[in-house]
Amino acid sequence: MAFTGGRPVGLSLLFCLFCTLTHAVNLDVVNQCSYTVWAAAKPGGGRQLDPGQAWSITVAFGSTLARIWGRTNCSFDGNGRGQCQTGDCNKLLDCQGYGTPPNTLAEFALNQTNNEDFFDISLVDGFNVPLDLSPTTSACRGVRCAADINGQCPEKLRTPGGCNSPCTVFKTNQYCCTTGSGGCAPNEYSSFFKNMCPDAYSNSQDDQTSGFTCPSGTNYRVVFCP
Ligand SMILES: *[C@@H]1O[C@H](CO)[C@@H](O)[C@H](O)[C@H]1NC(C)=O
Ligand SMILES: *[C@@H]1O[C@H](CO)[C@@H](O)[C@H](O)[C@H]1NC(C)=O
Repeated sequence: MAFTGGRPVGLSLLFCLFCTLTHAVNLDVVNQCSYTVWAAAKPGGGRQLDPGQAWSITVAFGSTLARIWGRTNCSFDGNGRGQCQTGDCNKLLDCQGYGTPPNTLAEFALNQTNNEDFFDISLVDGFNVPLDLSPTTSACRGVRCAADINGQCPEKLRTPGGCNSPCTVFKTNQYCCTTGSGGCAPNEYSSFFKNMCPDAYSNSQDDQTSGFTCPSGTNYRVVFCP
């Protein structure tokens, strides 16, 4: 690092001014897996992360429905076009939209009610890569889903590279908890995900046990294979 051991004061001021003006949050994405993960973020794009590599992205305050996920077994050409076995976003290295299930999701809504960030890990679109999502600049708690869900995935949900959600496979109100369908009773599949990762969303109405908050302005780290 060029500035280690004494970043010029003028530069620091410039950085702070930049932070204030843009109202942005830093998200560090780190790949601790033994395999390559193609990180994806909306907003943010996408990046190949070999084992041990990290990617720093900036997300504007007020961003809602922000998402970070991992893609596996991808192959892209020099123009960033190709495909991934899991988490693929419309065949682009630099994601513009969300990924294809199954994909473990880190989800954010920044600076919402009472100047708080809301975040969670969701298995509503299934599971591919173990995740940890933790604050780096506040004392609030993070959330982790690192269980061997791929290895223990129920037969009917298995798919190469991941474990599908029952909604993806069966597409019924019961498994998708479709709004207006009259609630969402736990079932053998949602219970499987909930038992494996109690702090993660196993269905879209799982708010009591799966939503977390930190003060707005907090920075975060997302780790694949924590
Ligand atoms: C990639 O695909 C190969 C062959 O299907 C499989 O053995 C391997 O587990 C996959 N890797 C990941 C990280 O999913
Ligand atoms: C959060 O949003 C409010 C306006 O809704 C703003 O006044 C406040 O400065 C924001 N918080 C941060 C940390 O930027």
